[in-house]
Amino acid sequence: MLRRGTIRLRWLLPQGADAATMACWHALLEPAEQARAARFHREADRHAYIAAHALTRRMLSEAGGLAPTDWRFIEGAAGKPELAPTHGLPRLRFNLSHTRNLVACAVTCTDDVGLDVEDLERREAAEGIAERFFAPSEAAFIAALPREQRHEAFLRIWTLKEAFVKATGEGIAMGLDSFGFTLGRAPALAFAPESAGPVPAWRFLQLQPTPATILAVALRRAQAG
Ligand SMILES: CC(C)(COP(=O)(O)OP(=O)(O)OC[C@H]1O[C@@H](n2cnc3c(N)ncnc32)[C@H](O)[C@@H]1OP(=O)(O)O)[C@@H](O)C(=O)NCCC(=O)NCCS
Repeated sequence: MLRRGTIRLRWLLPQGADAATMACWHALLEPAEQARAARFHREADRHAYIAAHALTRRMLSEAGGLAPTDWRFIEGAAGKPELAPTHGLPRLRFNLSHTRNLVACAVTCTDDVGLDVEDLERREAAEGIAERFFAPSEAAFIAALPREQRHEAFLRIWTLKEAFVKATGEGIAMGLDSFGFTLGRAPALAFAPESAGPVPAWRFLQLQPTPATILAVALRRAQAG
């Protein structure tokens, strides 16, 4: 079992899996997940979904002792998946994220966790989105950077924001401008609404697992108890 305050984080590259590996991963999923997988039109998206859900089941098994096929899930508020209460493991928490190039899962004991991965080659109108949806301080930070650095800074903040809303479980309904980050040597939460708890309870991790992808993890320390 995981110790409190510990996080386990793993990722894998779904495009590296051969057909036999993919079939093994697919067999770990429950029928509802297999049905969802079948609805993806593009094979790369389907494989990423299967890889992410198989990775999650295997990581939960390492931490919680059941067989990978035995895990059942419920949807919390705003759709955040949690372990079914019937497992009797309320402290075991997890979150997952998938893109075609990378899938990842984080598992914690008690602490709320949110995880996001994105492809660095994603090419939105970064500044327009930042101005419209990010906190004004974040949009100003991006706009002040040399042009060639703006896109990466935008995606760094984007993944942090997404990890944050996934940790709270509230989704983007909480308003992406209601909380803000600073990007120094380590990313930090500058401000957040009261509903997100005290700012010092939050920790963030940002990595570039491959040259083409970026990952952010948000952890909210649970109250003692
Ligand atoms: C789930 C959500 C929070 C993130 O979705 P996403 O980035 O498209 O997808 P990810 O691969 O990172 O994560 C999906 C996984 O998160 C989990 N998830 C779903 N709802 C969640 C929620 N409310 N909170 C936390 N995790 C959630 C699920 O395991 C889901 O996997 P599945 O779809 O295979 O079952 C999405 O509902 C959302 O709000 N997207 C916002 C997109 C956006 O505009 N972001 C701007 C950020 S600046």
